[in-house]
Amino acid sequence: MTLDLDTLPLLADAASRLDSGFADLPALNAEVSEADMQAMRRVLMDVADRLKDNYPYQHPLYAGQMLKPPHPIARLAYALSLWINPNNHALDGGRASSQMEKEAVASIAAMFGWNTHLGHLCGGGTMANLEALWVSGRLKPGQTILASEQAHYTHERISSVLGLPFASVPCDARGRMDMHALAEKLSRGGVGTVVATLGTTALGAIDPLPAILDLQRQYGFRVHVDAAYGGYYSLVNNLTSETRMAFDALSSADSISIDPHKHGLQPYGCGCILFKDPRVAGLYKHDSPYTYFSSADLHLGEISLECSRAGASAVALWATQRLLPLTPGGAFATDLGRCRQAALTLYEHLRNDPRLLAAMEPELDIVVWAPGGHSASEISHRSRTFFERAAAHSLHLALATLPRSILSHYWPNVEWDQDQVACLRSCLMKPEHIYWVDRIWAVLDEVAGTIDS
Ligand SMILES: Cc1ncc(COP(=O)(O)O)c(C=O)c1O
Repeated sequence: MTLDLDTLPLLADAASRLDSGFADLPALNAEVSEADMQAMRRVLMDVADRLKDNYPYQHPLYAGQMLKPPHPIARLAYALSLWINPNNHALDGGRASSQMEKEAVASIAAMFGWNTHLGHLCGGGTMANLEALWVSGRLKPGQTILASEQAHYTHERISSVLGLPFASVPCDARGRMDMHALAEKLSRGGVGTVVATLGTTALGAIDPLPAILDLQRQYGFRVHVDAAYGGYYSLVNNLTSETRMAFDALSSADSISIDPHKHGLQPYGCGCILFKDPRVAGLYKHDSPYTYFSSADLHLGEISLECSRAGASAVALWATQRLLPLTPGGAFATDLGRCRQAALTLYEHLRNDPRLLAAMEPELDIVVWAPGGHSASEISHRSRTFFERAAAHSLHLALATLPRSILSHYWPNVEWDQDQVACLRSCLMKPEHIYWVDRIWAVLDEVAGTIDS
């Protein structure tokens, strides 16, 4: 068995408890006929069969893209709330779940050292970044958004949606925003916002936030931190001192996005945007003739660009944080530290193998490498072959295209017949990876031995 099914009975118990909260209502005949049960069973079995057509994301031998199974408590709490199906737009649609969202979001803000904040959950990192850049555009109209060449591609796309100019800043050998290049762009003026990424998508690189904040004091731009991937690493105690300093500086940012559906053990559909200054709420001000009448308390739709949102996401996040509080040294933080340890262990294997080309040491839990080769095109070709052969051994990796400007620092003998190289990439996001990393290496070792033939 690879799926956690042991916890399923908890759901029935909790659903009965929930039902008892509505006992003063006239009973509804909610019984399902035998025929309907059979029909649903048939469809559900079809669904199960259809879902088999997936990589085994839940298994440690899935060591590819950013995919992490939700914690059982998140899955159960999410499913439980579906009997109510709350909508966190307005308190009328989701009273309990809105309160749970406020509490869960406040805990995330506290993790970054903010006692006051404005924030809410949203569909994911893209929506969170959209809100941050929308606020930036309102406060710095017409001014340029800067993000590194390794920043998530949506920053450029979001800027275009918002009608704001965008420019990218080159990276250093570790895939971090280059501070000389940033200073040079700032000196030309017109920059409204700098996006610092703490945990880039391809490499898990950490932009030097303290240096960016120094430049902010000189130039007065807004700092938005895209910590969609890396944000929870704030809690971890096995980072390099430079990475630690970047996380420690997070409380000085103007806004932060973080994705509970990446490292926060949540089902998809759970991003989070936080603003340091609660007065940003004034920018969202709107009237809704339909929704905000039942209470003078804050309706989350009053501070969010999205309207209807799954209250289930807030319920699942609240439950997870209740079970696994966001405290340094706690169980959640310890598990995250294991992910980084697994990545460092894999990196050591790769670095010491003459058949393989390692790149930078991972700053978080993402490892990038490639099979050796004479030229960039040959390496790319071999990476794809490697990817397929590893999959044939049930080890599922990812491919990432990286630029010569970064990799040439690590691979000085490669002939650069093209400017991009397809590499292999593993996001070791599951704490169990620490116990599986030797087995993963055993497969990589075997595949590496076949790659020339
Ligand atoms: C750093 C970063 N920002 C933003 C995003 C976009 O997040 P989402 O896919 O949740 O919209 C990602 C996704 O991988 C990411 O890694």
